[in-house]
Amino acid sequence: MIYGILDSAEEKHFKGERIDKSMKFVPIGEILKGEHTGKKVAIRGWVHRERKQKAVSFFLLRDDSGIVQTAIKPESKYWDESQKLTIESSAAIEGTVKEDKRAPGGYEISVDKLEVVGVAERYPITKDQSEEFLRDVRHLWIRSRKMTLVLKIRAAVFEAVHEFYKQKGYFEIQSPSFTGSACEGGSTLFEVKYFDQKAYLTQSWQLYAEAMIFSLQKIYCIAPSYRAEKSRTRRHLAEYWHHEMETAWMGFEELMGFEEEMITFIAHYVAEKCETDLKELGRDVEALKKFKGPFIRMRYEEAIKILGQKWGYDLTDEDERKLVADAGKPIFLTHFPREMKAFYMKVDQKDRRVVLGADLLMPGVGETIGGSERISDSKELEDSLKLFKLKKEDYSWYMDLRKYGTVPHSGFGLGMERLVMWLASAEHIMDTIPFPRTMTRLYP
Ligand code: 4AD
Repeated sequence: MIYGILDSAEEKHFKGERIDKSMKFVPIGEILKGEHTGKKVAIRGWVHRERKQKAVSFFLLRDDSGIVQTAIKPESKYWDESQKLTIESSAAIEGTVKEDKRAPGGYEISVDKLEVVGVAERYPITKDQSEEFLRDVRHLWIRSRKMTLVLKIRAAVFEAVHEFYKQKGYFEIQSPSFTGSACEGGSTLFEVKYFDQKAYLTQSWQLYAEAMIFSLQKIYCIAPSYRAEKSRTRRHLAEYWHHEMETAWMGFEELMGFEEEMITFIAHYVAEKCETDLKELGRDVEALKKFKGPFIRMRYEEAIKILGQKWGYDLTDEDERKLVADAGKPIFLTHFPREMKAFYMKVDQKDRRVVLGADLLMPGVGETIGGSERISDSKELEDSLKLFKLKKEDYSWYMDLRKYGTVPHSGFGLGMERLVMWLASAEHIMDTIPFPRTMTRLYP
């Protein structure tokens, strides 16, 4: 069977503007799986590497699915055209696939036809450039093999979250980005001008979610959250994608069980869907396929004892990663002192110093999920607002929720980039999002 640009038979179709519309092009990944060996194919992509020699020229062509070697000889009527190809030039190629152990990926296409679509100027990204430079040229670095792989994994993680909730019968629902009051405390709020009032960019959908469960009971979202984070760590962004869920009638223990099930589902889903991408990044896919609970449950009190610290000590990123590394498993860190956590968390009736909240610490990352059972009692909520010195007027609609048919409920928030960090073994959170926003980076 002849694929792609040869279908038209006529040269003008190959050279002409129809190339984008009606031709069937083969993903390079299929060629690398051996699906087209011995056959004629058409591919299109960008030049990843080139080696121009007198007797034969090699061009490694890449698309989203892989990189394949193509070869052209001087006898070809497309030889002169091929010599225009530089790194990152775009081209469409037609030729026959053969197995070749010497070629990267094990296959080579001998070029029958070639169309140079866009000749690239001298590409600024060469070997051994600093992370800072690569972030300055993020609009170009995004096409590197490493970023392509991570972004494919990222897409699969989003897909997995939706799939999990579809299976659970949850509703996806949205909340506003402009808010009038803080959800997670004032220090990381981004203030914006909202007509003639002051508003803030949302830190979390939670307060709205607590209203929406009275309608839909089981809900989730994936949306951007904004934090004016001044700390420069490898896991903080000023804008990140926040997956949150909120469930009526759910208690604290059930919440942790739910999180465990979800993380396990996502790990298996992504391991299955992105097996080759993960392997190429050096991730142990077999470990991910076998990944399962139960996760460790550790009270705050126990954690500070291990770390040799006193009550009230705020764990650092490093502390968290060390705890998980030593345990060799994800850890639910639970029962934090009340004043260290948000105003909406329910106090533990057995030990009123602490709240029914849990941070899920993942290997290599640390805190990836923050969740809790919420205060459902009107009086308790009022006391909590007082304790946290929050203005009752700012939360009056939120207080209403406890007045009209209140129910126990729980929920959590998960940083999608942190989850991708764990799954893709990424060193820095900036490597998991296409265009990171931090205190010092608003460009490109
Ligand atoms: O622990 P946080 O602040 O919890 C909340 O916002 C709750 N209202 C969520 C809820 O219960 N619905 O944030 C939740 C998660 C963190 O565990 C972390 O993974 C991520 O959001 N996160 C960040 N990710 C990247 N950059 C930042 N600056 C982040 N801040 C929080």
